[in-house]
Amino acid sequence: NPGEALKIMISGAPASGKGTQCELITQKYGLVHVAAGDLLRAEVAAGSDNGRQAKEFMEKGQLVPDEIVVMMVKERLSMPDSEENGWLLDGYPRSLSQATALKKFGFEPDLFILLEVPEDILVERVIGRRLDPVTGKIYHLKYSPPETEEIAARLTQRFDDTEEKVKLRLRTHHQNVEAVLSMFKDITVKIDGNRSKEDVFAQIDGWLTKLLEQRKATSESL
Ligand code: AP5
Repeated sequence: NPGEALKIMISGAPASGKGTQCELITQKYGLVHVAAGDLLRAEVAAGSDNGRQAKEFMEKGQLVPDEIVVMMVKERLSMPDSEENGWLLDGYPRSLSQATALKKFGFEPDLFILLEVPEDILVERVIGRRLDPVTGKIYHLKYSPPETEEIAARLTQRFDDTEEKVKLRLRTHHQNVEAVLSMFKDITVKIDGNRSKEDVFAQIDGWLTKLLEQRKATSESL
């Protein structure tokens, strides 16, 4: 739809770099970043009923039930900022039923990005990941170390970032990824995520630029 804000989905295995790329994409394109995992962790931190239930599944690396996740994502995508600036949906849909639910509510993406990274690398990325609770920025002890001692001292680790739990998360991912991909075949781009974060972003940036150019051409020919 020429003239409309961009609607992008980004998916990939645990630690494939979704959050890292979303930081770079939102900086350049101003899309609203809607991350299912972040919305769930906010509920867990708030100690709500949904949060308490969700944590049990997250601890086991399983999908949180649709009753909790679907409405949470739908409500965030329906907010005025998402409609106005466009959205970048991260970590949703993770099952056929989640994809179908979103479609039913009228949310259809322009592009479905899949980040591909070999499994041994994913485990190393998870184990070294750290988060800055002040800025929300994602670090890695080896690949993206913190800029200052002060930041280094306050970094935290996610409760599901252990070798044991990432293996469970990977299994869940493998059980569901094909079904989700089958729904978005026509608009899927597969990106080699096993490169530096700048190189990965350059590939994504190329696709987004192309998409915007196509739209511009379409609207000019109307
Ligand atoms: P979620 O929070 O979505 O976790 P995930 O899918 O496992 O993905 P991550 O956040 O771990 O990784 P990422 O791809 O964002 O990687 P990052 O950029 O941080 O979900 C958590 C849980 O919530 C799920 O297990 C499930 O229980 C539940 N859940 C979430 N969504 C749900 C849904 N739709 N339905 C039901 N349940 C749901 O990068 C990882 C590390 O690698 C970082 O340290 C980073 O610095 C480093 N790194 C990134 N890119 C590179 C690079 N190019 N080179 C070197 N290092 C890099």
